[in-house]
Amino acid sequence: MDIQPDIGGFMRDRFGMFLHWGCYSQLGKGEWNMFFERTPVEEYAKLAATFDPRAFNPREWARTAKAAGMRYMVLTARHHDGFCLFDSRVSDFTSVKCSPGHRDYVAEYVEACRGEGLKVGLYYSEMDWRFPGYFHYRTDLKSAEAMRRQCHEQVIELMSNYGRIDILWYDGLWLAHDPKTDAEISPAFWQGRALNGRVRRLQPQIVINNRLGDPADFDTPEGRIAPPADPRRPWECCKTMTHGWGYYGGTPDVFARSAAEVLKDLIDCVSQGGNYLVNIGVAPDGSLPVEAVRTLHEVGEWMAVNGESIYGASSIDFQKDHYAWTRRGDVYYYHMYSYPLDGRKVFPLMDAKVRDVSILGSDHVPRVEYASNGRLVIADLPSSPPIPPFLTLRIEFESEPRKREEKDPGAWLTGRA
Ligand code: GLC
Repeated sequence: MDIQPDIGGFMRDRFGMFLHWGCYSQLGKGEWNMFFERTPVEEYAKLAATFDPRAFNPREWARTAKAAGMRYMVLTARHHDGFCLFDSRVSDFTSVKCSPGHRDYVAEYVEACRGEGLKVGLYYSEMDWRFPGYFHYRTDLKSAEAMRRQCHEQVIELMSNYGRIDILWYDGLWLAHDPKTDAEISPAFWQGRALNGRVRRLQPQIVINNRLGDPADFDTPEGRIAPPADPRRPWECCKTMTHGWGYYGGTPDVFARSAAEVLKDLIDCVSQGGNYLVNIGVAPDGSLPVEAVRTLHEVGEWMAVNGESIYGASSIDFQKDHYAWTRRGDVYYYHMYSYPLDGRKVFPLMDAKVRDVSILGSDHVPRVEYASNGRLVIADLPSSPPIPPFLTLRIEFESEPRKREEKDPGAWLTGRA
């Protein structure tokens, strides 16, 4: 049987956990500190020898993700500094070779995800600051090619040594942030199509992101919810819920995101047809920052009741301007971010009759009214959500709802819109 990439399944999952973690975490200055501080390779390498995460418990990560309603995880197997959390034949800069305990953290992570029934994702940075060829592509092609060889071989290692991997999340397509090089050379340089071909032979169902110069299966807008121009293109937005992608020291994390922020983003993504991958900068000892855990606990309480408006849900064709609606088959969901003082939510210009309306997680049944100007009114709404932070209306219509076209923009003044 010809197994295809499971992009449909991935896009139904909607919500995942991103984890940035490496020997850089020990400094609490983010995952880019080697570059930002211009730390020489040999000096930076010493960080590997002290990387001894005593609280590393990936099963706990996976339980936290699952309880938050997430369906997959993506761990930085290797970031731009080249430090591998896995065993590699082609690099000596790995936790297995250089760090206390000589552990393969990727192996333990993969097992933990599977143990909790979550899909397994691996982030891998193709570029590696330790290679002069990354900075001098034009004059040191040999080094650049060695970097590419390392990338191809390590990706094959990751795809061969850990059983089934569901998501491959590349990053670092650019070469030395040279805009000219980026546009002209980077996409072809990595030979992404060839590498992905090999990946798919090893992992036929895997889904692959677009950050190796090959569009592959899905796009990855970063830090903002920005669906691709082509509406048929699957996408996943990634954002961090901690100060940065990698761990930043200092408690409390004043930039920690609230459950409302995380869930609003998730709904924004789903209502525009995308997934949401929310990141945690893992502490050096392997633990998740307390603020993130607290937030995810609240997220999970909401998801347990309201998840039906998220999983397998997609965008709707009417009211594209208002990113609070999602749809699953014939059922529509409207997420309320505020509570009108008159208890009435009014949807104007709607050609739609309601068959049934309810509130997820509540027995209270709101009233449906119809008024002039195609106003559909959901009245008698409570003044707070049954499960904070948002109330979800579940609406079944008698027929597919449509938004009325406003031919005369002033017609509503007399009630004839
Ligand atoms: C960027 C950054 C990186 C981060 C990633 C997450 O490309 O270089 O540090 O891992 O985005 O999307």
